[in-house]
Amino acid sequence: MTQATRTGDLANSRKRPRKIVLAITGASGSIYAQAVIAALVAARSSGEVQLAAVLSQSAGEVWSHELGGDVREHLRGLDVPVFDGRDYSAPFASGSARWEAMVVVPCSMSAIAKIAHGISDDLLSRAADVMLKERRRLVLVARETPLSMIHLENMLTVTRAGAVVLPATPSFYARPETKEAIVDTVVTRILDQLGVEPEGAKRWGDDIHQESSR
Ligand SMILES: Cc1cc2nc3c(=O)[nH]c(=O)nc-3n(C[C@H](O)[C@H](O)[C@H](O)COP(=O)(O)O)c2cc1C
Repeated sequence: MTQATRTGDLANSRKRPRKIVLAITGASGSIYAQAVIAALVAARSSGEVQLAAVLSQSAGEVWSHELGGDVREHLRGLDVPVFDGRDYSAPFASGSARWEAMVVVPCSMSAIAKIAHGISDDLLSRAADVMLKERRRLVLVARETPLSMIHLENMLTVTRAGAVVLPATPSFYARPETKEAIVDTVVTRILDQLGVEPEGAKRWGDDIHQESSR
């Protein structure tokens, strides 16, 4: 390979949209998934990202309970391809398709347990397994409280394997006044981990500190 070809490849790879897998499980917190979907779809419109989704078996039930409506229809309405939970021919089921990041939001303790132990018996856990083996970014937005020793050990295991465990734990130092603003304190951190620039994020030391000292 010539130097020029290598340079060309690098330039092309920088221009490619970031391919992100969005996975939703049956943990509480569908509102986080809804907000992450909205942010990623906005980023997609600027050509920054390419998106595909996979749902666990329980995701739809919890989404309907917490938000109403059908999560598949919601995603299809936004033109996000949704792959069947057993469809191992999905592109992100193989490392060679080079999907760069995956977020599981919200992420159940059951999903973390499977990922921690390499059990790839559905597309979601297989895709997470691929992210880890390819040393790509895997963000698990864990939602459970309190946590058992089993939960904590599984979180430690996935962290050692390279995943980022990002608990769905909002912050309050920006004084959020609405439910959406509270949710956004978590969503901003998720987007940071995915390498996607969040719109209008308030950051400590910039917006928040300056505002309070004015
Ligand atoms: C309304 C509702 C809320 C739930 N919240 C949680 C939760 O916050 N965390 C969790 O780990 N499981 C939660 N569960 C249980 C999971 O849905 C259940 O363990 C399921 O098997 C997870 O499977 P999945 O990872 O394939 O979605 C909830 C279930 C329901 C019906």
